[in-house]
Parts: sequence; structure tokens; C-alpha cells
Amino acid sequence: MAIKFNDDFLWGGAIAANQCEGAYLEDGKGLSIQDIMPNGVVGDISDEPIEENLKLIGIDFYHRYKEDIKLFAEMGFKTLRFSIAWSRIFPKGDEQEPNELGLKFYDSVIDECLKYGIEPLVTLSHYETPLHLAKTYDGWRSRKLIGFFENYCRVVFERYKDKVKYWLTFNEINAVIHFPLMGAGIYTPKSKLTKQDVYQAAHHELVASALAVKLAHEIMPEAKVGCMVLGVVNYPMTPNPDDMIASMERDRDLMFFTDVQVRGKYPRYTKKLFRDLGVEIQMEPDDEEILKNTVDFISFSYYMSKCTAKDVSKYERGRGNLTSGVKNPYLKESEWGWQIDPQGLRYICNYFYDRYEKPLFIVENGLGAIDELVEVNGIKTVIDDYRIKYLNDHLVELGKAIDDGVEVMGYTSWGCIDLVSASTAELKKRYGFIYVDRNNDGTGSLERYKKKSFYWYKEVIETNGKILKEE
Ligand code: BG6
Repeated sequence: MAIKFNDDFLWGGAIAANQCEGAYLEDGKGLSIQDIMPNGVVGDISDEPIEENLKLIGIDFYHRYKEDIKLFAEMGFKTLRFSIAWSRIFPKGDEQEPNELGLKFYDSVIDECLKYGIEPLVTLSHYETPLHLAKTYDGWRSRKLIGFFENYCRVVFERYKDKVKYWLTFNEINAVIHFPLMGAGIYTPKSKLTKQDVYQAAHHELVASALAVKLAHEIMPEAKVGCMVLGVVNYPMTPNPDDMIASMERDRDLMFFTDVQVRGKYPRYTKKLFRDLGVEIQMEPDDEEILKNTVDFISFSYYMSKCTAKDVSKYERGRGNLTSGVKNPYLKESEWGWQIDPQGLRYICNYFYDRYEKPLFIVENGLGAIDELVEVNGIKTVIDDYRIKYLNDHLVELGKAIDDGVEVMGYTSWGCIDLVSASTAELKKRYGFIYVDRNNDGTGSLERYKKKSFYWYKEVIETNGKILKEE
């Protein structure tokens, strides 16, 4: 099959403020929940920001963004996905007036992208709720956050309306159910929360997301706003119809979020789902009307697939991206135990497109791996053939999805420059085309080095995918 990407296909990379910027208190920034999460989602939070938290310095993108964007431009990026840290613009989250210095920083980041013809793709909220909102209101459990978020969106839309066309509302909005602190800034420990609490918080985020779409369209008629979900494929472990039904139900954990944001209303199956879970969503009179502001496209992360069974205890569990299922015996896994499934990307693209017929944007995909910095002809680099293979195989399958008829706007590889991981908050797990000299113990010069994959991805973009190889 000849792989054919559209001429205007948006090739690029993705990063998030809290995982790369550092400068956690600079120029008036307030604390975000990430500043007290030194262990990602796998350990305890700290009372105050502590030095061990690698995100406080990140990869120092805040001071090195010009150098980094220049490297992205050298690879030929057409787009860069990054997030605005809400707490840089509203340090506490509930103020009326924004922090001008925070806005100035993103003025410069955006201008730097535009200088190279790189389209900014901006995430409004990437696991970065201001800490004050988490502590004072219990994050998105409170309806008040809708108003604070709307105010924040209005400010950034007004500021960047002539420069940013592509926006995403909440990163992996479906994560709220399993990771309430990271997904929705809920400070109460998960063990004390009921399903009612988390689905109500999800409802507030869904209303806020729809309001953001409405506002964006009013302020920037040309803008395209997407939802963003954590995309995981669920295969039934066996052809036993019980496993098939279990897999259908797991799919709905995810599809619930796209259904609301793409179709503009709660799907009918939520009636039974909520009855079973003991959930009764508290709606305000306007909520149903607000939800009708649907997204222009669907974006998602895709790293892996998993299997589902009615009785999961019979099987070996796998690990994964903020979610885990039964291990698939046909797949290999990464060093972090995430099962690698390029065909799953083709599958999920078709699944979304069959259901909604809306353009898709793959805004995260990549391999977290341990890299070794070596010297070749006096130049420091990483020979990351394993990463090239992972990305090649996924892009080949994406090409097949396009050939199947799916409309795909673009692809941004996750962590195009090494950054602090979200789930385990470490630097040893690297995704980048660019190596950053910083280690789990905080040591390192922060120097940047091009990996072998840097040159490979440059060629992929240059040839619009023609060098991709099907094995
Ligand atoms: C997604 C997040 O869940 O996966 C990113 O949107 C995250 O923030 C990425 O970094 C990879 O996960 P991890 O845990 O390897 O960083």
C-alpha cells in the first residue's frame, strides 16, 4: 500500500507546560497541583513543593524555548502542541485579572512558533489545575470552577485570537474517573470519593469544555476546537460473548466523554450506567443547552491497547497509560509494561470515525524508553532504533486508517523533546527526538542532543511519510 498523507497534514510534536517548563514560581506563576505531585500518580503528594519534584525545573523550557522551537523547526514541524499553564495566567485560578507576565511568556512562545511557520495547537488544561482551586474548592467537584475556567479561556482567546487557530479543551478528560487529582484537581483523596463525586466533577468539566467551544467560536470564528481523550482500545480477551459485552462496557468508559462532546448530549446508555453506579448528575437549567456546543474535531492520545474479560481475575494483568487491563498474549511491551499495538491505532481511528464522522487528530503517541547517550564521531547522540520502529509502525497503521477513509488532520508525537513523565514523574522514561541531559536524581547540564530519531522524523516530514516502511 502506498501511504498517502494529505499535503496539509499537520506533522509535529506535543509537550505540556507542567512537564517541561519548570520555573514553577517565576514571573508571578502560582502553584499548580503538579507542584505537589513529586511522584506522578504512583505515590503520595507533598504538603509543599519539594526539591525531588523534577517538574519544578522540568527541562527548563521556560528559559530555553527559543532553542527548543528552533530544533522543532529544523525537523520541519508544521505544528507544536503545548499547554498554557492556567496558574501562570491566573496564579490562584479565581482572580478576575490575569497575570500579564504569564501572558507575555506565551506571546513569545507563540511568536517563536509562528516565526518558523509552526501552527500552535494549544491545550487549555493539561493536568494543571491551580493548587488554590484544588485546596479551596476541591477542584472540579465545585461548579464554581466552570466560571473561573470560562474567565481564563476568555482571556487567552482574546489575547491569541489572531495567532492560534487550533485549541484543545481538557487533556485526556476521561482520566478524571480514575485519577481525580490529576484529572480534575480534586484534593480529597480518591479513597474518600464516591462515583457520584467523580462523575459530577466530570459533568462540570464537560460543561466547561462546551462553554469554551462556544466562546472560542464567538471570539474566533475561524478557530477549530477539539476534545481530547485518552484513547485505549479494548479487545475482548476471548470470543466468549460475556467478554465481548465487558469490552463494550469498557469502551463506553471512554466513549461517554466523546459522545457528550461530539454529539452534544448525554448518551442513552448513561441512564443505566448511572443507575448501576448510584450516580445522579446535578444539572443546572442551562446545562443541556450549553452541551450542544460540540467540538470541531476529536483528538486523542494513543500508546497501547488492552484486553478485557468478564472475569479479569482469571488472567495476568497488564500495565498501561493511566489504565490497565488483561495482558494480550500477541503483543510485546515497552520497558514500562505498556503493550505495543500499532494496529490498534488503525482500529481506534476507524472506531471513532465510524461513530462520529468528525476529523481526528492524533495528539500523543510515542515510546517511553531508557536511552543511552553515546558519542559518534565526537558528537553526542542516542541510537534509538527502537523508537524509530515504534513510530514507523504506528504511522504506517495511521496511513492505513487514512486509506480506510478516516479523515486525519495531523499527528503530534508525544514528548518530542524529553520531559518529565506524567504517571511516574521521572526523566529516565524518555520519548523525545531530542535528548535532554537531566536525570532522575536531578543532576545534568540540561544540554540538548539530537537523537537518531531526530533525523528520521525530519525525513518523514520532508517526504510527507513516503519513507515509512511497512514490515
Ligand atoms: C498521557 C498524558 O497520559 O500520556 C501525558 O497526556 C503523558 O501528559 C503521556 O506524559 C505519557 O505518559 P507518561 O506517564 O509516560 O508520561
